[in-house]
Amino acid sequence: MRERWTWRGAFVVAAVGSAVGLGNIWRFPYVVYDSGGGAFLIPFVIALLTAGIPLMMLEFTLGQRFAGAAPRALERAKKGFEYVGWWAVLCGFGIVTYYTVILGWSLRYLVGAFTLEWGEEAGDYFFGRVLQLADPGQLAGFPLDTLLPYIIGWICIFFIIYSGVKGLGRVVMVTVPLPFILILILMIRGLTLEGAMDGMNFYLAPDFSAIFDASVWIAAYGQVFYTLSLAMGILIAYASYLPKNSDISNNAFMTSFADCLVAFLAGIAVFSTTGYMAYQLDVPVGEVVASGVGLAFVAYPEAISLMPVAPELIGVLFFITIFTLGLDSAFSLTEGIVCAIMDKFNMKRSQATVLISVLAFLVGLVFVTRGGLFWLDLVDFYIMSYGLTVVGLFTCILVGWVYGADRIRGYINEISEVYVGIWFDICIKFITPIILTVLLVLNIYENIISPYEGYPGWMQLVGGVIVMAAILIVGYFFMKARTREAEEPEEGEVS
Ligand code: TRP
Repeated sequence: MRERWTWRGAFVVAAVGSAVGLGNIWRFPYVVYDSGGGAFLIPFVIALLTAGIPLMMLEFTLGQRFAGAAPRALERAKKGFEYVGWWAVLCGFGIVTYYTVILGWSLRYLVGAFTLEWGEEAGDYFFGRVLQLADPGQLAGFPLDTLLPYIIGWICIFFIIYSGVKGLGRVVMVTVPLPFILILILMIRGLTLEGAMDGMNFYLAPDFSAIFDASVWIAAYGQVFYTLSLAMGILIAYASYLPKNSDISNNAFMTSFADCLVAFLAGIAVFSTTGYMAYQLDVPVGEVVASGVGLAFVAYPEAISLMPVAPELIGVLFFITIFTLGLDSAFSLTEGIVCAIMDKFNMKRSQATVLISVLAFLVGLVFVTRGGLFWLDLVDFYIMSYGLTVVGLFTCILVGWVYGADRIRGYINEISEVYVGIWFDICIKFITPIILTVLLVLNIYENIISPYEGYPGWMQLVGGVIVMAAILIVGYFFMKARTREAEEPEEGEVS
């Protein structure tokens, strides 16, 4: 008997936990600022409605209707589609190996926050003291500062996944609301600091000419796919634990809305604080903005050091936020893989969890080494820009055209609260695949004309080829492996 979510809403909360991740705090605010400020919200919402939400509904439907993780759900939709499911799962595997490394850094900083250990030069602290960065291409051993928290991070994920869907349902009751509350606190703290309004101005001052800029639209679609955790097979796996006939469309709207809300509020927290820092250092806001690891582990910590009251407390709250944001995204990725393995090889959850955790832990060790940051960036870059687009594209084309977007929509409408119109078919068959193709081509093009900053060309090439080839080859073997179906009563038997 397939596991089930144990309380109503557990599924939505877990899906929100997966979607709300580091991207909400360190990617979204920066993209907004960089792509027209407040005016960016227009392309963003359009991208959400024409690509994000339809694709999310599609994944929810696949999981719920065919009762399986990505490979099984797709295979049951149509023979041979399983291959794409394995790509999704393997992309997820690639991501979780380094996502957990970042989770480890946040734990390390959490400890450091009690004494504001990073001081005023958080950059030196991060690269020199914590990561002990070596030259690109080297591995150069493990710093204990990152190895230890990495191990702790995996222990957390292991036990959570081990505890099954029931345990997941409980854990997300904490890991989803907690960072939300903390972001509210950080936001209020930020807004009550001097200079906060300059920061807000930077964040949201609308530049309406941006709407006529194609690259802004690309950024909007890219951010939507990223932030909703689409095309990694996670939402399919989560939805596979839904009882038959549970709502699809309303759940998809709620999940995306919650994710966007958190991103927007996190932006206020980040930019008000950034404004304060610029004010203190007497430089323009544009000089202190940052995104990615630079925001979470350098710029924001530096701003914390400058805070007038209880900076240690803010530091602790901030890194608890980062940790909990990342944790539920990381275990959702692990669950997506574990679920697929259980489906295919009829394995027990305990076995699959041990297998996947140990394997991902070992692979991830590469990113924990002193040269690991470069590999991390590279793998992140490849999986996010190629893996996600390719998987999303194939899913839309196969399910939208071969299986039939209208069949998916018919099913959604049979069981959902919110009626879904013909726009769904148009989005899945035309708009989303076209956008994904554009994103893919642009990524390849950019990759060729401007090698990813700071890396020796060979590394970039080797990294990309290895990542993509591994996905194609390993996915093939998974597909070819013999499926061991459990005797599951009629559940998946659909025409
Ligand atoms: N949505 C996550 C975030 O905002 C990032 C992400 C993309 C992700 N794909 C994922 C997280 C798959 C977990 C699983 O940070």
